[in-house]
Amino acid sequence: MGKKFYITTAIDYTNGPPHIGHAYEKVLADAVARWFRLSGREVFFLTGVDQHGQKVQQSAERAGVTPEQFVKDVTAKFLELWERIDVRPDGWAETVDPRHKFVVRALLQQMYDAGQIYKKKTTGWYSVRQEQYVNDKDRNEQGEFGPEWGQVEEREEENYYFRLSDHAEWLQQFLASRPDAVFPANRHSQLVNSLADSGGMDLCISRPKSRLRWGIELPFDEDYVTFVWFDALTNYISFAGYRDPAPGTSGLPDFNDLWPCDVHIIGKDILIPAHGIYWYIMLHAAGLKDEEMPKLLVHGFWNLEGRKYSKSEAVEAKPLKVLKDLTPHGIADSVGKDGLRYFLLAEMTTGQDADLSEERILTRYNKDLADILGNLLNRTLNMARKYLNGVLVNTTHGSEMHQALRAAVTALPGRAAEHMSAWQIHKVLADVIDTARLANAFIDKTAPFKLAKDPANADAVASIMGHVIETLAHLSIILSPAIPSTATRIQEQLGWSPPAGFTLADLKWGLLPADHTIGQPQPLFPKVLPPAEAPGS
Ligand code: ME8
Ligand code: MG
Repeated sequence: MGKKFYITTAIDYTNGPPHIGHAYEKVLADAVARWFRLSGREVFFLTGVDQHGQKVQQSAERAGVTPEQFVKDVTAKFLELWERIDVRPDGWAETVDPRHKFVVRALLQQMYDAGQIYKKKTTGWYSVRQEQYVNDKDRNEQGEFGPEWGQVEEREEENYYFRLSDHAEWLQQFLASRPDAVFPANRHSQLVNSLADSGGMDLCISRPKSRLRWGIELPFDEDYVTFVWFDALTNYISFAGYRDPAPGTSGLPDFNDLWPCDVHIIGKDILIPAHGIYWYIMLHAAGLKDEEMPKLLVHGFWNLEGRKYSKSEAVEAKPLKVLKDLTPHGIADSVGKDGLRYFLLAEMTTGQDADLSEERILTRYNKDLADILGNLLNRTLNMARKYLNGVLVNTTHGSEMHQALRAAVTALPGRAAEHMSAWQIHKVLADVIDTARLANAFIDKTAPFKLAKDPANADAVASIMGHVIETLAHLSIILSPAIPSTATRIQEQLGWSPPAGFTLADLKWGLLPADHTIGQPQPLFPKVLPPAEAPGS
């Protein structure tokens, strides 16, 4: 079997319920996965949850449950959200999985045996209350550790370190030779620049169990667990069949069909140092070749009305006119799962930050989806039923206006492929909405509602309707990666769906047969308006 398109996301911390940043990243990955499938590739999309660590241990204590139970409950919330909003991964990573622990420990042992991991004693300031070491950046303006830290004492601790610095030069050369390793280019430069001043630091990879119990035990010292990155980053290979004792026996996909990973989708906060430095160096130290290094797609952050997004504000930020809150569920409750997916993908320029606000969510929904796309479908189907009894007769005849619409529609797949090659999914969506707008204008100008008054114009009316209905079939296909359930609903109303095995290459004018019968019109996107603007009030 050939190489599959392998796509992953960051795995989300399970110290709280999913927020909009989590939803964006998973929806983006899901849409990219669906896009490559539509393009005819075999795809493996992996996402999941990061379940170990200090924060989980502390949250579980506060909630009065075991960490096992705590992560089980929070993980269920993630799974429930992905189910609700059609995020459909092929593989699901949970870091408590025994298979994952096996790979993490094997990797640690390999590094230890190769002399890549060593033990070292350090002293530092330890906050007993917060159960963590503090450093100078935690001091207040008076130069002291404030009361929030409780008692702070000097402590000596032994830990294990990974020889990052041994590979710093390799990383520099690798990044210089692979300007496409990190997208967008400004993040690639940022990573390269960060190497200049990160000089000579090794990575602490352990915590003594006296401080952190909730983790994966080091294979060479049972008094320690591994700390964050050797655990979390390794998910990208442990759930892809890496070190399968006999390929296929673990029930996981075959690593060799998947690796190198085509893209890790991550947020900007975990590029430097986690993925850009630690992960590349871990893979290199494990013996992977330069051409086996994964690519990184680094997305921006959602801000809340111009400020840094905070989970509590997303829940409590008021006043909102329509939405209950700005959580993924709060948004989907009002504008539906595809209202949420469309907003996330249309509003963010891949790689840059964007602003989350009720106003933008409602504008995207009411203007793009309801006024332009939904209205195009609804008015067209209603006219086609009224004037043609729902049966198309002619889709190729036409004036310059017909030709212009056909040209715009048939250019869509090629343009979309170009946008997607640079992860610019918001441009794909903008093209779709522009084309729907063009089709609405085409109806306004050709005026089938006037022509239909004279039976002599029957052919002309049929041709206009045929053009718009064919256009909608194309739009449903181009939209299907981003808003799959809407695409299906459009197709149900059109009375057409793509045959099994349909790919982008099959997207050519003439999808609908000449005597095609359309289905029943039904509003796709009922308006969602603040009470004062709602009709009748
Ligand atoms: O970092 N806007 O988990 P996490 C957009 N477990 N994206 C956001 C965001 C925001 N406001 N806030 C967070 C972790 N993200 C680790 C990752 S990977 C081996 C381990 C993104 O739950 C963030 O950038 O804090 C990251 O990509 C993802 O959500 C999970 O963040
Ligand atoms: Mg984070």
